Amino acid sequence: MEGRLVLALILGVCTTIPCHAYYSQSKPYVPPTEKVAQLHFFFHDTISGKDPSAVLVAHPNFTTAFNNTPIPFGSVFATDDPITVGPNLTSGVIGNAQGLWASTGQDVLDLVVYWDIGFNQGKFNGSSISIFSRDPITQPEREVAVVGGRGKFRMAKGFAKLKTYFADFSTGDAIVECNVTVIHH
Ligand SMILES: *[C@@H]1O[C@H](CO)[C@@H](O)[C@H](O)[C@H]1NC(C)=O
Ligand SMILES: *[C@@H]1O[C@H](CO)[C@@H](O)[C@H](O)[C@H]1NC(C)=O
Ligand SMILES: *[C@@H]1O[C@H](CO)[C@@H](O)[C@H](O)[C@H]1NC(C)=O
Ligand SMILES: *[C@@H]1O[C@H](CO)[C@@H](O)[C@H](O)[C@H]1NC(C)=O
Repeated sequence: MEGRLVLALILGVCTTIPCHAYYSQSKPYVPPTEKVAQLHFFFHDTISGKDPSAVLVAHPNFTTAFNNTPIPFGSVFATDDPITVGPNLTSGVIGNAQGLWASTGQDVLDLVVYWDIGFNQGKFNGSSISIFSRDPITQPEREVAVVGGRGKFRMAKGFAKLKTYFADFSTGDAIVECNVTVIHH
């Protein structure tokens, strides 16, 4: 099979997709056996200081709700937040949460987070989970949706329970505990 694929690549001929088309014929999808994994870690979202992990990339040019906070309505941050096994940064970094979050609440301070949480240690090294969800940060405990993943988490789905471990509402810095239940192939 692999040999044929290599030959096909060398000769430039098409394999599963006919040469004259851009799509294959659809076949019944046979889902592989699904597994469930539990993950537990903390992420560190730091806005303040000389080496922030979350930086403001856009905001409205007029006053909006929550303008007395570091994250007024409409502000968008890009992040590269370290994630660790324990609440302290010294407990060992196991990956990072790269993405964006936006302050999206006008009545209540809410975020919507768009995150790829990638791991660089252990059995999930090189794999990541995708989170796309509302995150009502003023609630001490909340749930966000896991909508996909890469590597070992390809086609993952699931949810994560979040709990604020530390938050400084004057700087916007936070450490959040995260329990993920992820169903993957
Ligand atoms: C905000 O930007 C708009 C569009 O460029 C401009 O018309 C408006 O004057 C700006 N408002 C303020 C308060 O700077
Ligand atoms: C992390 O550990 C250091 C050194 O033990 C301590 O000073 C610091 O307060 C700890 N931070 C947190 C968030 O627990
Ligand atoms: C994680 O994977 C990368 C890329 O394959 C590799 O360079 C690195 O050594 C791995 N780290 C650990 C701790 O296994
Ligand atoms: C995560 O699970 C642990 C162990 O069951 C529990 O002690 C902790 O409170 C949970 N945290 C969250 C944010 O759900």
